[in-house]
Amino acid sequence: MTSFNITKIPNPKTEAEIAKIYENPGFGRYFTDHMVLIDWEKEKGFFNPRLVPYAPLSIDPANMALHYGQSIFEGLKAYKHSDGSIKTFRPKSNAARFARSAKRMAMPELPTELFIESIEQLIAADKNWVPEDKEKSLYLRPFMFATEVGLGVKPANKYLFILIAAPAGAYFPQGLKPVSVWLSKEYVRASPGGTGEAKCAGNYAASLIAQAQAAAEGCDQVVWLDAIERKWIEEMGGMNLYFVYGKKDKIEITTPALTGSLLPGITRDSILQIAKDLDMESSEVKISVQDLKNGAASGEITEVFACGTAAVIVPVGKVKSSDGEFSIGDATTGLVTAKLRDALLAIQTGTTKDVHDWTFKVG
Ligand SMILES: Cc1ncc(COP(=O)(O)O)c(C=O)c1O
Repeated sequence: MTSFNITKIPNPKTEAEIAKIYENPGFGRYFTDHMVLIDWEKEKGFFNPRLVPYAPLSIDPANMALHYGQSIFEGLKAYKHSDGSIKTFRPKSNAARFARSAKRMAMPELPTELFIESIEQLIAADKNWVPEDKEKSLYLRPFMFATEVGLGVKPANKYLFILIAAPAGAYFPQGLKPVSVWLSKEYVRASPGGTGEAKCAGNYAASLIAQAQAAAEGCDQVVWLDAIERKWIEEMGGMNLYFVYGKKDKIEITTPALTGSLLPGITRDSILQIAKDLDMESSEVKISVQDLKNGAASGEITEVFACGTAAVIVPVGKVKSSDGEFSIGDATTGLVTAKLRDALLAIQTGTTKDVHDWTFKVG
């Protein structure tokens, strides 16, 4: 165990204040009482791990992250299980992805043990922020950015790792509603050899104009196509995609293969396995817009859904592009989508047996 320096806030929020926040938490609007900070310097490696009251940072205007964008993050949720324990879902996979993102961005790789310990320290201090209500959760946001001061373009020699936590409400308070998607042909998210498989801040900055275009087209989300041919489906906004083929005696679900330009989602990976547990076939494929259009028209593709930590599983009802639009099935939430969602949520919230040992006790 690394020794963390602990400084607690003198006036933490009361149970009543936290309960009030959870009535309408939104996403990332409120933060818990504390945060974890860890410094990195070239000569020292990671040092000075500490838990401190949540507070603004003071940043030099020539901070290199602000200019050249060395900034990465992760996202995972903590749930309270009925035995009172607090668990996260596959946090070591987030730690591994965080390290891979760091490597791609020429940043230092935080060891998995320190990533996990920072979560344990924050949960130990802010335990009462993890909600009882299984529809809600405490969202954990680990991130790291360059802190060297200077304008030379090079990998920084100083970084700061931070972990903060935000109450998260039910993603669909009014129930699971299918989303409509806009196929982006004008803008791309990532190209071969680029940063698509890293969770770096710049990927999200670059996505915002396409998301705005999707909204202007009356769609909820943008779907990214490959950069070269603008033909192969990659992923949706901040979520991976699945296509359901409803054969008579066998359901098959497929997801775009990891080509290096899409984010290897932990939810995506879990669903590949859960489908097998539920006696469905699951595979990673190359699927084009035309394949999707033909499959939806013939009825071979019965459902499409997106998946990710924030919303778990979301049905896709309508697909629109500059070439026109089409619906998936009857544009309602399909049975397979609902079944996979229930199965995954049951593991995450602890209402079913965790046969794959995916949940991890952090408090
Ligand atoms: C671009 C992108 N794709 C997919 C995902 C889904 O990944 P995960 O299931 O690990 O949350 C995310 C969210 O992290 C994302 O930002």
